[in-house]
Amino acid sequence: MRGKSVTLEQLEVTYPNGFKAVHPTDLVIQAGEFFSILGPSGCGKTTILRAVSGFVEPSAGRILIGDADQRGKGPNVRETALIFQNLALFPLMRIWENVAFGLEARGVAKRARRDKAQELLDLVALTDQAEKTPGELSGGQRQRVAIARALAVDPSVLLLDEPLSALDLKLRQHMRAELRSIQKKTGVTFIYITHDQGEALTMSDRIAVMNAGRIEQVGTADEVYSNPVSAFSASFVGEANQFAGRILAQDGEMARIDTPHGQFNGRNPTGLVVGQEAILFVRPENIRFSAVENVLHTHLLRRDLEGPFVNLFMATQSGACVAMHVPNTAETSPAMGTQVTIGFKSTTATILPLGPVARTGQDIAAE
Ligand SMILES: Nc1ncnc2c1ncn2[C@@H]1O[C@H](COP(=O)(O)OP(=O)(O)OP(=O)(O)O)[C@@H](O)[C@H]1O
Ligand SMILES: [Mg+2]
Repeated sequence: MRGKSVTLEQLEVTYPNGFKAVHPTDLVIQAGEFFSILGPSGCGKTTILRAVSGFVEPSAGRILIGDADQRGKGPNVRETALIFQNLALFPLMRIWENVAFGLEARGVAKRARRDKAQELLDLVALTDQAEKTPGELSGGQRQRVAIARALAVDPSVLLLDEPLSALDLKLRQHMRAELRSIQKKTGVTFIYITHDQGEALTMSDRIAVMNAGRIEQVGTADEVYSNPVSAFSASFVGEANQFAGRILAQDGEMARIDTPHGQFNGRNPTGLVVGQEAILFVRPENIRFSAVENVLHTHLLRRDLEGPFVNLFMATQSGACVAMHVPNTAETSPAMGTQVTIGFKSTTATILPLGPVARTGQDIAAE
């Protein structure tokens, strides 16, 4: 097995009802890369996968797999395999027969099918499960059967559309590591779709953050998390405190913003100029119990224990709520209602142009 690159050139997808689900998009996914597309429900993630796999025709632009233009190629002749959110195994077939299913149609003899299936079951750590039926396996094991089945046809590119969303949290976390290891072992290019930022951050070589039919940022997990380039990216990937206002001063890489909650300094990666409307973002783990550089006078509003960490919600005198993420040690938790001065370093804050921000993780979880 070997991965191939996937190139989108000004790819655009408009559905027959006139809705433009993907605006002109340029993207190069490297051969053998674990690439995630992260974005909220309805932003166009599945549409991109359907275009790459050939189930939907682009309305403009090109898709290349390796060097080959995919125009006019149907799904069954593309070097892609697709794994859906609700995978369907054949309940009456044995596991190895499920894995080998696509090979029979390609005229592979039974003995060779059985061997190929066993090789793939070894790969996904299901060596001894070949003779069982899907009903005798756990959710995570079934998921691995689906991956083996998709790999059986030797795809260059494996497209995974939220494949873990039906599993419980523990299993999902376990499967993240499994998927990553299967990808490394095979070298197949993985394009992984998710709206779960934890999944994208832990598994991917690179991530595209997508919103409303557009890719807003492409980068490694560290780049996207620590150096967001849009308000949407900053608010969708991880938690972030937000202070909206207007740029007061600009000095090289840094800027100063005037907000109803105070004046703060932060990094200015997009070159905002004086007078522009903007939002300062600072992560909860970068807020300190000291008056470092940017200061807020607050009292503790709420304390949520997460085990090793505690989420503290601090109310400012100006009526803002500031989230802090601190280690669960006695000295880091003030008593309810006491006045506390908190602050953050300018280099840990990012000031970005005013723009749409994501709903919080809680909103999405509640859907
Ligand atoms: N066949 C279709 N005809 C018209 N509009 C469609 C069609 N399929 C999807 N859409 C619309 O295109 C947009 C993108 O849909 P898509 O399925 O790509 O989103 P998604 O990012 O995969 O969302 P989710 O996370 O909910 O799966 C949505 O607004 C959706 O309503
Ligand atoms: Mg989808």
